[in-house]
Amino acid sequence: MTTSSQNRTQTLIDEFVTRFQTRPSTMSVAPGRVNLIGEHTDYNDGFVLPVALDRDVRVLFNRRADRTVRLYAVEFDAWAEFDLDNLKFNDEHFWANYVQGVAWALMERGLALTGIDGIISGNVPRGSGLSSSAGLEISCAKALMAAANQLDALPGEQIAKAAQHAENHFVGVNCGIMDQFISTLGSEGHALLIDCRSLGYELVPFPTGASLVIGNTKASRSLANSAYNERRAQCEEGVRLLQSVLPGITALRDVTSEQLETHKDLLPPIIYQRCRHVVTENERVHATVDALARGDLAEVGRLMNASHASLRNDYTVSSDALDAMVNAMQGAEGCFGARLTGAGFGGCAVALVAQGQEAAVRDAIFEQYSKAMNIWPEVYVSPASRGAHVVDLT
Ligand code: GLA
Repeated sequence: MTTSSQNRTQTLIDEFVTRFQTRPSTMSVAPGRVNLIGEHTDYNDGFVLPVALDRDVRVLFNRRADRTVRLYAVEFDAWAEFDLDNLKFNDEHFWANYVQGVAWALMERGLALTGIDGIISGNVPRGSGLSSSAGLEISCAKALMAAANQLDALPGEQIAKAAQHAENHFVGVNCGIMDQFISTLGSEGHALLIDCRSLGYELVPFPTGASLVIGNTKASRSLANSAYNERRAQCEEGVRLLQSVLPGITALRDVTSEQLETHKDLLPPIIYQRCRHVVTENERVHATVDALARGDLAEVGRLMNASHASLRNDYTVSSDALDAMVNAMQGAEGCFGARLTGAGFGGCAVALVAQGQEAAVRDAIFEQYSKAMNIWPEVYVSPASRGAHVVDLT
């Protein structure tokens, strides 16, 4: 643990003591993520290549003997309490629904949980497309599992699945599996190649000599939810239409670029464009993994730029702010490539940058993005970090 991470833990222990008049026994930690490449592919049974960040959500807790979960959310300065036997949607504290949802999904999978007293705190920027909600879900899942002595009851993939199920069916947000998966299974110094159909995964060493620079547009993502659902429906429509000539397919993952071109006339133009993004993006993920293995960072950068163009032109999930951010990054000295990351419509872009050039890229972002958009952005540099884990505080 770095000194600043240790200091943060100490501050949170003090906060816990203030709130509960006793020390916490345990802390669970789950990171946010940035996706290198493979955007809007996860819900098409495709491939993604995310990295866990050095920013995370932490839950410090003590086990309780009863079925009550009492939580204090530091950043919201708010308390929520619920009974594991009586979970119902909390209209007042939206964040509490992530915790309840995860508890529900874990119990549905047969885990016998116990109550906890806990505090929650995170430094993943919220609402910025860096998966603070997946960090919250996974951190709570690990806390509840640890409190019940059931940390080994489910493999990481299934913890991720349970959290996704909670977000889809308790919180009511339609998301794929990527964010929860990388938050659970990320590994220091690595990206994770995830097959979102089989849930198989492979650690891909993060290239030495390169850094990740993340630019937060600080622009609103208000369109993200409805547009996300619309894109998902369009992909399903594409599969349905293509099944008339490709009966074996069940998702866009099964379609190659050649097949798509051959049967293009079956699809309305907009559906064709959406499908073309997904199909070519899956191909770019594999090409990126190959280029990383060869140490060809220029090619990785080119693929990231191509991903952004495809998201902007074919999938139309970029925005003026994201385009301005990506332009500033791509034009900066030492930047191999850059693209929007996450669902789009705002939030963050990610750049792969030659080590030592992080400050140059950051300066270019502050100067050019702020001028273009009249918004002051935030910039983060993060190493590829480890996934969720539980720390004994006794
Ligand atoms: C959001 C979702 C993910 C994924 C991305 C787009 O982050 O939560 O599951 O679909 O958008 O790649």
